Amino acid sequence: MPEGIRFDAAAARGLEAAYQTTDVILQRVRVVESLALTPGSHVLDIGSGPGLLLEALAKTVGSSGRAAGVDQSVAMVEAASHRCEAYPQVTVDAGEALKLPYPDESFDAVVSTQVYEYVADIPAGLQEIRRVLRPGGRAVVLDTDYDSWVIHTEDELRLARIRDAWDEHFVHRGLPRFLGAEMKKAGFRVRQVEAIPMLNVEHHENAFSWHLTRMIAGFSAGRRECTQDDTREWLGELKRLGEAGEYFFSLNRYLFAADLEAPGL
Ligand SMILES: C[S@@+](CC[C@H](N)C(=O)[O-])C[C@H]1O[C@@H](n2cnc3c(N)ncnc32)[C@H](O)[C@@H]1O
Repeated sequence: MPEGIRFDAAAARGLEAAYQTTDVILQRVRVVESLALTPGSHVLDIGSGPGLLLEALAKTVGSSGRAAGVDQSVAMVEAASHRCEAYPQVTVDAGEALKLPYPDESFDAVVSTQVYEYVADIPAGLQEIRRVLRPGGRAVVLDTDYDSWVIHTEDELRLARIRDAWDEHFVHRGLPRFLGAEMKKAGFRVRQVEAIPMLNVEHHENAFSWHLTRMIAGFSAGRRECTQDDTREWLGELKRLGEAGEYFFSLNRYLFAADLEAPGL
């Protein structure tokens, strides 16, 4: 099996830049709102990455609360710990989404963004969220559906080769379309489902797709039928389209907010 994406220190720096674009800042606002946290809440961020969401959660729950992050990657744990070092309510642990290092019913809310597309066993992942959530607690999961991709190109075949190679970077290319059903099966009551488009019609560093297209090019070159020339020419094309005012990139993320029913309700 080909190697998937590596969440190393370089990836942490790339994600840190991508997640400070306006598109992802707006996404974070929606994610935090949908968690319905109050000062003093205990919240867990699974796959906390470079820790931008964790920092926002720390501010929301305040010093009387708890914002815990967990990530399988040591580089990401280091990046998030560094980013959140001013917040005593934050802890960041190395750990696996399928074996969370916390006791049962530890949290009022659990959130995970852009992580379960890498987790093969979704039912087991949801059971693990359920285990650490208190009865009545809230879970918010957000992921991308890569079939929602709409990108302007003058070479559809080249883009198809790049997209096909990028498929190796995740386990699920379209998790959102079955995530709600899996959450219901796992005992959650799904309260809200919403699309969060990453829609860019300009090509510049404050646009999410500026960063994502570079990550895709870096990952896809040399995989399957996608060559180094393909990705180099594609990035050149995106630049030209941007300069000509003809750039278009759209990719949907989907947010699911669900409550764990309390006994007797
Ligand atoms: C694309 S990043 C998203 C980071 C962060 N959640 C965000 O949206 O800003 C995916 C993160 O999930 C982590 N991850 C992937 N699979 C994981 C697993 N099975 N257990 C724990 N962390 C995981 C990676 O190490 C990486 O930091």
